[in-house]
Amino acid sequence: LIRLASPESIAKAAGLIRQGELVAFPTETVYGLGGDATNDRAVARIFAAKGRPSFNPLIVHLADREAALALGRADSRTHEIAARFWPGPVSLVMTRAAACSVSLLASAGLDTIALRVPANPVAQALLRQAGRPIAAPSANRSGELSPTRADHVASSLGDGVALILDGGPCAIGLESTVLDLSGAQPILLRPGGVSRESLEAVLGPIAVPEWSDHPERPRSPGQLRSHYAPRLPVRMAAENVGADEALLGFGRDLPAGAAAALNLSRKGDLLEAAANLFAMLRELDRPGLRAIAVVPIPERGLGVAINDRLRRAAAPRGN
Ligand code: TXA
Ligand code: MG
Repeated sequence: LIRLASPESIAKAAGLIRQGELVAFPTETVYGLGGDATNDRAVARIFAAKGRPSFNPLIVHLADREAALALGRADSRTHEIAARFWPGPVSLVMTRAAACSVSLLASAGLDTIALRVPANPVAQALLRQAGRPIAAPSANRSGELSPTRADHVASSLGDGVALILDGGPCAIGLESTVLDLSGAQPILLRPGGVSRESLEAVLGPIAVPEWSDHPERPRSPGQLRSHYAPRLPVRMAAENVGADEALLGFGRDLPAGAAAALNLSRKGDLLEAAANLFAMLRELDRPGLRAIAVVPIPERGLGVAINDRLRRAAAPRGN
């Protein structure tokens, strides 16, 4: 499972990424659990391997600055920070570009995307050979510490990953700084490898929400400013559907009569359902309808995260 990083093992890892498999790889901060960011199923696999009970947006890695900036709406501030700190240990949150090819699931349904250009040579070589953006959270199971050595990854994720590239211990050993540049006021979402002071030297004052001092406490997408909720109310565990409702199905034998219907997974596969969730919610969120009715989704595996997301969408609005 663990292979020392070499031209051969990196080529093998790049091939696995292109096939939609998961590969753990070193960055200068911590080891990442990587999958093809443009492949919904590969991204769904990342969430399954992490065993996370909710969808948290993922950092998307690229080999070079221009390719990274093209995926988001980068203003002059963003270009300046990128020129100064990329490649390096900072991730920048931007509004997704209109032509952004990255899976909506990697953004956990948000209108923003976190982008990073790592400096580690193994990460660089993997990204270049894979030839596509790689979504990668830290390569640990949910709730555990971020891994800084290949054997940490093996003991945390085991066979949830096709290959672990061993590039030795991570030089920094602390996660990247997450800086939100999607709004007028820069916000430090997570302290990390690049200091607040060095970012402020370029940007001026950066807002620091009080919860960002607790990097181990995952932020729920509900706390995020640009959080996407469907405009229509969501009705869960629906056993029937009205003629003025959209239906989001799962499995066979669905209630009939909806104004519009999509199926998360006809064969009842939760991985496929997670891969389809955000794109289908958006597609069903049509003007003129009363609600999106969602049939029951099993509360196991990725179903837990899917139901968590649907519950947030179904919760009363207005706050
Ligand atoms: O050093 C690192 O950043 C490592 C290496 C592998 O790159 N990755 C990492 O990823 O720590 P993860 O998933 O464990 O943490 C990503 C952080 C989370 O706090 C997440 O909420 C935030 O970045 N994040 C990602 N996309 C975001 C977005 N669109 N808006 C706000 N926060 C976002
Ligand atoms: Mg993490």
